[in-house]
Amino acid sequence: MAKAAVQYACTECGYAAGRWFGKCPGCSSFGTLVEEVVGQAAKAKAPPKPLLRLVDVRAEEAERIPTGVPELDRVLGGGLVPASLVLLGGEPGVGKSTLLLMALAAMSAERRALLVTGEESVAQVKLRAERLGGAERVEILAETELDVVCETLEAERPDVCVIDSVQTLYSAELGSAPGSVAQVREAAGRLLRVSKESGVATILVGHVTKDGSVAGPRVLEHLVDCVLQFEGDRYHAHRVLRAAKNRFGSTNELGVFEMTGGGLVGVPDPSEVFGRTVSGEPGAAVACALEGTRPILLEIQALVAQTDLAMPRRVATGVDPKRLAMIVAVLGRHAGVALGQADVFVNVAGGVRIDEPGADLAIALAIASAARRAPVRAGTAAFGEIGLTGRLRPAAQAERRLEECGKLGLKQVVAPPETPKRPGLRVMEAETLRQALKAGLESEPPVEETG
Ligand SMILES: Nc1ncnc2c1ncn2[C@@H]1O[C@H](COP(=O)(O)OP(=O)(O)OP(=O)(O)O)[C@@H](O)[C@H]1O
Ligand SMILES: [Mg+2]
Repeated sequence: MAKAAVQYACTECGYAAGRWFGKCPGCSSFGTLVEEVVGQAAKAKAPPKPLLRLVDVRAEEAERIPTGVPELDRVLGGGLVPASLVLLGGEPGVGKSTLLLMALAAMSAERRALLVTGEESVAQVKLRAERLGGAERVEILAETELDVVCETLEAERPDVCVIDSVQTLYSAELGSAPGSVAQVREAAGRLLRVSKESGVATILVGHVTKDGSVAGPRVLEHLVDCVLQFEGDRYHAHRVLRAAKNRFGSTNELGVFEMTGGGLVGVPDPSEVFGRTVSGEPGAAVACALEGTRPILLEIQALVAQTDLAMPRRVATGVDPKRLAMIVAVLGRHAGVALGQADVFVNVAGGVRIDEPGADLAIALAIASAARRAPVRAGTAAFGEIGLTGRLRPAAQAERRLEECGKLGLKQVVAPPETPKRPGLRVMEAETLRQALKAGLESEPPVEETG
């Protein structure tokens, strides 16, 4: 096949050139030029199409395909929608291939299920399939060339297809290496067309970058119907599946799994896993933080140790050190927790990073709890931004946070004023940090109880 003409276009301003530049001559941004195939010969004029009124559209009730993995179904909003495109992102080794092979195995009992593997050999997949069991009927194709994959899908028309992973696919028409922005975009675009036309529900596996977003262009997330994130801590067996985007369901659902030798096992009661503090232990608090638009409960641990150092240490894992310094200062100045002679260590359990001010209050609670040796009340979460005056500011999307607390079985929440009420959850409103500490820490009666 003759190589198609290629040009480099800026994703920011649309500037196009015949060669690549590190800095866009159009808008001076760096690293925004990506490779594109220029439309080949001039196309014949397309005929216009008749328009429809929505009332005349016959909606074929899309019967969802149960994946056989209840936690996955829940996050998808009740199963896979036929002819949809789902992107599953996750860090290396988190268990993406395992999860999808389990789903394929369950679905292959009644449907045609195809696994396109570009990362692992057929033999490697076979080994995993033997460990998981029940995958005998899953069809497999070891291929990385995009054209071949698309042609095969069109010819075979399986009901469900998993592409592991989209970064390994490459189109010979583009000169760039597999996994590059242009290749990933091309692969996703072509697979989208094929899945819609041939009615194949397609799941793409995507790698994530260091900052946790799916590698490749942002456009990938816009293209697909559903973006799932598989998260987990390498050192623990638990994994969380969330929807970052879902055109067919809510993005509030979350699926929790435990990685075992026999595969991933759904965890029916995730409240056991998250924000699991040993009650009565000083120095631990549960934060209800938002990650992007997703609420997540995290245990925050703090240690306060007396020191003779002239400059006491403030060591944070998972929390911005500047934020920690600010919280320590506000605690000392406005809440009567003097830490001038103490080292303060703060750790977010599970190796998660919080960038969000809504987690301030829980960090402060954990530090105050450690400093006063008073545990945080059992079953209590906290959220709210701490201002420099010691006043609490309302946190964004309080309702979603409360929903998450309720979902994970917590009983009470320390929160800023004007937090909405939620049945089954006691909201302890606090205007200032001092009041919040009183409400959240044991051995001191709560200031105000509502809800
Ligand atoms: N025999 C086993 N017993 C228990 N856990 C295992 C076993 N074999 C593999 N695992 C788990 O499975 C994980 C790998 O799963 P999987 O290959 O599905 O991940 P992945 O997300 O597809 O990774 P990659 O990005 O490399 O493709 C390992 O990190 C390990 O935790
Ligand atoms: Mg894999």
